[in-house]
Formats: sequence, C-alpha cells, structure tokens
Amino acid sequence: MAATRNPGFDVPFYQPADEFFPANNKIGLTFDDLTLATLYSEILPRDTQLQTPLAEDLRLNIPVISSDMDTVTESRMAIALALNGGLGLIHYNMLERQQLSEVSRVKFHVHGMIQEPIKVLPEQNIGDVLKMIEERKFSFSTFPVVDAKGKLVGLLSGHVVKPRYAKRKVAEALTPRAQVHTLNKKELGKDPIARADKFFNEHLGIHKLLVVDDQDHLHGLITLSDIERLAAERNAQFKPARDASFRLICGAAVSATRNAFGELDRERILNHVGGLVERGVDAVAVSTAHGHSKGVGNTVKVLRDAFPKLPLIAGNVTSAAGVEYLADCGANAVKVGQGPGSICTTRNVAGVGIPQMTALYVCSRAAAKKNVAILADGGIAKSGDIVKSLTLAQAVICGGIFAGCNEAPGEILEIGGKLYKQYRGMGSFAAMKAGSAARYGQPTNPTQKVAAEGIEALKEACGSVDRVLAQLIGGIQSGMGYLGAANLTQLRDKARYIRVSPAGMREAAPHDVVELKTGN
Ligand code: XMP
Repeated sequence: MAATRNPGFDVPFYQPADEFFPANNKIGLTFDDLTLATLYSEILPRDTQLQTPLAEDLRLNIPVISSDMDTVTESRMAIALALNGGLGLIHYNMLERQQLSEVSRVKFHVHGMIQEPIKVLPEQNIGDVLKMIEERKFSFSTFPVVDAKGKLVGLLSGHVVKPRYAKRKVAEALTPRAQVHTLNKKELGKDPIARADKFFNEHLGIHKLLVVDDQDHLHGLITLSDIERLAAERNAQFKPARDASFRLICGAAVSATRNAFGELDRERILNHVGGLVERGVDAVAVSTAHGHSKGVGNTVKVLRDAFPKLPLIAGNVTSAAGVEYLADCGANAVKVGQGPGSICTTRNVAGVGIPQMTALYVCSRAAAKKNVAILADGGIAKSGDIVKSLTLAQAVICGGIFAGCNEAPGEILEIGGKLYKQYRGMGSFAAMKAGSAARYGQPTNPTQKVAAEGIEALKEACGSVDRVLAQLIGGIQSGMGYLGAANLTQLRDKARYIRVSPAGMREAAPHDVVELKTGN
C-alpha cells in the first residue's frame, strides 16, 4: 500500500538519474549539490548486500578500494582492505621489484595453508634459529625441519627454541618425523580448510599440520590458529575478498612508462606486469591523471593482448568518450575523477576537471553501453558521498579517508598534542620526486611534470582500517535501507535526486548546537 501511495506528487521533485542529470546539464554537480530521496522500504540496513563485480574474475564483497598513493596503499593497507572484502591498489612510487614484494606479502597473508613455510636444517644450531627469528622479526618459533633435498626430517617446536639451548643442534632437539602429524597433499581435496579443520578436531592438542607429497617432501604448513580465524570469517557478513586459491586479493598500479626517447616502454611494462601476474596480482590499474590519452590507451591494449584474462582498471577520465576509449582498448573498469581529490589541485593548476557527480553520471551511461564498471575516484569525505557515488558507480576509490589509518605507510607525527599522518597528492612535488628517483634511479625524469597538481598535507590519525570501514559500511547500508535497496544494483536503479540549496547544505550538517562529540 504505502509503496504506491501518491507517487505522482513526488515525480516532479525527485527524479531518476536519466532525468535529473540531463535537466541539470548546464552545471557540474558534486556530492553536496544534491541529495537522495527516501523510498518505501522493506529492507533493514543490516540485511543489505554489498557485493560488486569489477570484471569477470574480480568481485569485491564491499565496494571500496584504497587509492594507489604512496601515503595510502602498500601491503598492510591492501591486506586490511581485502580482509574487509575490498581491494587495495599498491602504488607504483617504488622500485618495480619492491612492488612485486608488496604484492607477494598480500598474497601470502594467511590463507589456510602456508605454501612456503620457513624451514630449518638438522645441522643448524638452535642459536642460528634464534638469530633468524630476531633478524627477520618472526612472530612464531616452530619450524619444519628438512634435509638438503627438502625431505621432511621432523618439527622443531617453539618449546626448545630458547637461548639456554643455543649451542644444541636442531637434530638433537627436533620432534622426529615419525611423531610429526602430516597429510599427503592429495588428501587435501577441493576444500583444504575443511579438511584441516576436521584433522584438528580429531587430534586434540595438535596445533600444526604439515603437508607432504608421496616422497615426503614438504609442501605446506597449516596452523590451528589460521584455521580458526578462517572459520570465524565464514560467518562474517562481509567476507574477505579472496581469489580462487583462497588468497587475499590484491591490485597494483602501473604507469604508462616511457623510455628515454619518450616512447611507450612496452618491454618494461610487459616484464613488470608479467612479474605481478606471476605473484598472483588480481587487478592491474593503469593509473594516470589523463586516461583519455594515447599512452594510456596503448598501455591497456598491450596488457590486454598479453594477458587476456587479467582484470584491467584504467583512468582517470571524466567523459563518456574517455570511458568508451578505454573500454575499447580493453579495460574492464574505468576510474572516474579529475580534480575532486582532497589533495588535488588539478582544477586550480590546469583549469580542468568536472565535479564528481556529473562526471559519474556521464561516464556511467557510457560504461553501461560498453559493459564496463566505473570507479568513483576522489573527493569522498563521508559515507553519504559513497552512497551517492554508488548510485552511479560500481565501487569507490578512497585516499584521504584511509591516509590517517595505522595501516597507511608512514609514521604517526605528534603536533601540538594531536596525532597525524602525512598525506600527499601523487602529483605533489615530493611524490613526483620520490617516484622518479625510485623508478629511474636518477634525479631527472623526462616525463616528470613541472607544475605540481597536488599538495602535501596531514591527516589526523584515525586508528585502524577496520574501524574506519565499519563506519563507512554502516553508512552505506543505512543509505540503502532508506532507498529500499537490497543490493547495489537496486541502489543504482532506485536512486532519485534533487538539488540542494546552500541553505539546504547548511541544514544537512549539525547546526545551532554546541557540538560535544562528532558522529565518529
Ligand atoms: P581523496 O579525496 O580520496 O582523493 O583524498 C584521492 C584521489 O585523488 C587523486 N590524486 C590526485 N589528483 N593531484 C590530483 O589532481 C594529485 O596530486 C593527486 N594524487 C592523487 C587520485 O585519483 C586518488 O585516488
């Protein structure tokens, strides 16, 4: 009943995207310029689903991506995002081999079986093992023992890895092979986690299970604590984003690298992305400020030809023509946003860029035609901005919102009794200098821009990504509940918009009160 009552009165005011944006086509609109109308709902926020597909082989469990910026996403951030169901894009302002290691760190994060466990040899001393733990900062002290051919000899338990036994040989201290619990890798089947879970249920007090082949060569290590963590995940509403081998997903950004003659360096790009693919990268983003350009298009084409199944993200653009161009070159998802970012100065410096909601609308219509996803990149300051973005885009990319988190690169600084972390635009002088130095190993870079298009800034330290994402996801679900949208497709279909006046904008924020606590 309530669902259909008097819809006629609403129609001229609260318009769907295809009426609202064309009716406002003389002006660029951003998040605060509009608001979403509520709709009849039978959906509770907590029941809403947030899965979003970005490519055939790439699906996120929450529509949130951390930005490929050197003060936002390295492995720690990417792990935190993937554990929450999203995706981190590792930035490229580092040596190429460093970026490969960062991707490996994410892919080797707990995923049930540790495929390359750290091993020790029988002839080593316990002292050597203690030194290795200290040097490599391991947080564990139990190690499989193998011979020179990789054959299992026993297990060195943490109980004997103590300074008092430093001079003893591993061979004397190990639990012998016959007493070590193992499974043949053939027995793991399709669901290694379930198999290991069963094993630990049946073997009271055993915390480590080694995986071997028919010749008794070591192939992996499964620990009870990892299995328990994974079992808890299975009941979580938003599951970690994992690949087909149960590893966390991870993205990496690359640039349209040029050689000394200013031509696209195909060989170098292919070598590097080949390395990323070998490490298991789940998406590669060709990230530049101007994606509707020959260099970016050709980079996407080269990668699409070489890696037909690799999910490719490309950008940034703000026009339908830009989306169509990158889609035709082979991109699966296109980043939309030029100048909305909190540290961006592109609009001031170059006089270029489009307010984000208008850009998203125009791009979304081209994306639907080309069957690609769009990612709303930049300018997101609050969860309401994400809800508005998701009425047009498949996911959002956030920089500033995560830059103050513990998992962002960089130290916490104390200034005037408050804690901050550094946050800088990738087009700031400092970031461009770091990028050219790292990537070319020399102070001058032929492609380096002379005018900075970003600033260096600080963000207040804001704790863990888990905490920040919990707030953001709560806001997204709340918005979906107001619109009666059970999932993101319904959110896009149902959204209706109206312009907001400056007075309406003031009304939207707390007013006429003395604020004691913010909503966070
Ligand atoms: P937020 O608002 O989340 O924006 O902090 C992050 C996004 O901003 C873009 N970006 C830049 N844009 N100059 C720009 O014009 C820059 O120096 C710069 N650095 C990053 C990028 O799209 C990022 O995801």
